[in-house]
Amino acid sequence: MNDRLAVLVVAAEMVPFAKTGGLADVVGALPKALRGLGHDVRVAIPHYSRIASERFHLEPLLGPFPVPLDDQLIDAALVATHVTAGDDHIPVYMVENEYFYQRDGIYMYEDDADRFIFFCRAILEGIRQLGWRPDVIHCHDWQTAIIPNWLKTIYRTDPFFRDVACVYTIHNLAYQGVFGHRVLEIAGVDEYGFLAHPDTPHLNDVVDLMARGIHFADVINTVSETYADEILQPEFGEGLDPMLRDRRDRLYGVLNGIDTELYDPATDGAIAMRYDRNRLEGRLACKAALQQLARLPEHRATPVIGSIARLSDQKGVDLICQMIDPLLRNHEVQLVISGTGEQRYHERLIELRARFPRQLAVFFTFNAPLSRAIYAGCDMFLMPSRREPCGLSQMVALRYGAIPIVRATGGLADTVRDFDPGTGEGNGFAFTPYDAMALYATIVRAIEAFRYRGVWQQLMVRAMGLDYSWAASARRYVDLYQRARTVRNDAPTPLRD
Ligand code: GLC
Repeated sequence: MNDRLAVLVVAAEMVPFAKTGGLADVVGALPKALRGLGHDVRVAIPHYSRIASERFHLEPLLGPFPVPLDDQLIDAALVATHVTAGDDHIPVYMVENEYFYQRDGIYMYEDDADRFIFFCRAILEGIRQLGWRPDVIHCHDWQTAIIPNWLKTIYRTDPFFRDVACVYTIHNLAYQGVFGHRVLEIAGVDEYGFLAHPDTPHLNDVVDLMARGIHFADVINTVSETYADEILQPEFGEGLDPMLRDRRDRLYGVLNGIDTELYDPATDGAIAMRYDRNRLEGRLACKAALQQLARLPEHRATPVIGSIARLSDQKGVDLICQMIDPLLRNHEVQLVISGTGEQRYHERLIELRARFPRQLAVFFTFNAPLSRAIYAGCDMFLMPSRREPCGLSQMVALRYGAIPIVRATGGLADTVRDFDPGTGEGNGFAFTPYDAMALYATIVRAIEAFRYRGVWQQLMVRAMGLDYSWAASARRYVDLYQRARTVRNDAPTPLRD
């Protein structure tokens, strides 16, 4: 293939190695789809201690080599493994450094800036040593945002990196990686100074890595079209909207897909009974299994609403907590929640669970088998997010025949169309104003529709037939990679040069 691209995907998380959120799913699945289109894709992540060498067949690839950090040279090594995509292999390179990555967690350390800047620098120096030059580096979120910054500054005239284009994907603008001036020295870009933009005075004396990704990347995208529009407004821009508006000619929205092999009720070994859109009996068995697991009465006619989410405002947990009492008092419905997060929500949910033991089950945990039991067993799936760049759970829920109830924002607006009982169109239930009454009314509409077995079955069958695979989105990423290569020459010059 003539236009076969070499693409290096750099990120802090990747399924199946290390995951805290949807970023890991995307980095696990997109490369497979790109490989399917014939491109040479490789992925780089840090080697955290949780990634066991034997289990994941890690092999040494590159011995210790010096990586500049601050005014020092610190050794890194690369180990390699691969993930399979059909008959193909996708190489995965992991950056090793005992001090930085041999820790229990992934983030939330005081030296996170150093840890991720080191990771980024080590992978760039590592591929140089390997002699593998990508056409495009695809960076994700603040942890890797220093790379576009470097490509336009310290590596700009470097013969190895001169022609490498860079795409920067924003998964969540709420986490920007904001640090002090020292980080510029650590990253070796202090001579270029702070980012100065007349409308973002708050950036004048901090280092906001996300902002740097946006400022320096050849092409920027976020994970749904609606979120790409939303973040241009102050309400969603998290302080970076002026900068995003400046770069809107390079800003795109590309909806994530889901890994349809990994999430398939017809082959899922973790659920009580497999099923598909032509054999829905299995779904009833899964519902009964979920009710058992949640210690709720095994009533087939009672709608079960599921929720799997970080217990935070972003996910609309405040709305859920506000409407639980009236909903459970007035309706024969069960609610199964899985997640961890803010303490106040833990407390509130414990209190509510004590009051409604036959209707509310809460698992203060987050794990794959439980999630699958919920997707397969609940009738409706709740996602009233305040903000949702894309959201993957609603797509998984649809594939498992759980009908989503969502707030129409970001990717939720792009994937869930409100059910219209008149025409029978739609694939879920959606509302717009961020308020508990609107959520309540929407749940009641869903409960009402659930009573009509034929109507509900039609909704389920339609939901399960929708295509949220990566195929279409991977093609759009290839377009972005090509565009990045075209526009890179008129990208902004360094701040002071
Ligand atoms: C972040 C966003 C979520 C998105 C995911 C993957 O976690 O909050 O909406 O689906 O990234 O892009």
